[in-house]
Amino acid sequence: MTASTTPSRQHPVIAIDGPAGAGKSTLAAHLARRFGFLNLETGAMYRALALKAIDNDLGFDEESVLVELASNTRISLEPQREGNRVLLDGVDVSRRVREPDVTAAASKVSIHPKLREWMVAQQRLLGAAGGVVMEGRDIGTVVFPDAEVKIFLDADPEVRGNRRYRQITPNQPADSKVTEQGLIEELKERDARDRNRAESPLRPAEDAVILDSTSMTLDQVLQAAESIVREHVSDAQLH
Ligand code: DC
Repeated sequence: MTASTTPSRQHPVIAIDGPAGAGKSTLAAHLARRFGFLNLETGAMYRALALKAIDNDLGFDEESVLVELASNTRISLEPQREGNRVLLDGVDVSRRVREPDVTAAASKVSIHPKLREWMVAQQRLLGAAGGVVMEGRDIGTVVFPDAEVKIFLDADPEVRGNRRYRQITPNQPADSKVTEQGLIEELKERDARDRNRAESPLRPAEDAVILDSTSMTLDQVLQAAESIVREHVSDAQLH
């Protein structure tokens, strides 16, 4: 990890990567608030494009069709206190992109190299000035390999599934078919797709700090991440 920022960037890029359900969004939102940076959830961009493919009755396998779709699409992320507001061609789709069909579709569209190139180019523009906490799967490896801070947030799939189950259960109708085991299986499927795809598979950058939260409380994770940031970035770059 480089200790100094590039001359064109006064403030650092903090890259947070890791598998689904590890708590990246919560961590990114916390660090962004702590240091006055923008938090950018790159997964929401893949989700927004997947939603547009669904709405246009397109399959998820045809790379050229999806790239063509992307070239006629505007996706904006508006950082908020707790996460991003997502605008697809000017329409707020923040809630819709979190639904299960879009979640599954996002994982499928994200395997296509040319579509990833389109996403990466946009993400580099969004983070070019620094002062961002960007979370995703390939931020430290591909989008900003020169990020000043790289954290790879991991946890066992059982723990991630259990956390997600407890998070969503209070909002589920009584006849909901969501089960903890079902969520764990779904996470494992997404992990396999994210880790095994040919293009930019999910893996820690060589210079990433790996934070395994399996046996940590949320507060411990937030504290540990804050310390990692302070170890790699000078006070001057944080203000
Ligand atoms: O982080 P998320 O669950 O919102 O991401 C949705 C999907 O997008 C996920 O299946 C992996 C993919 N993704 C990716 O391939 N690269 C990123 N930088 C972010 C997300």
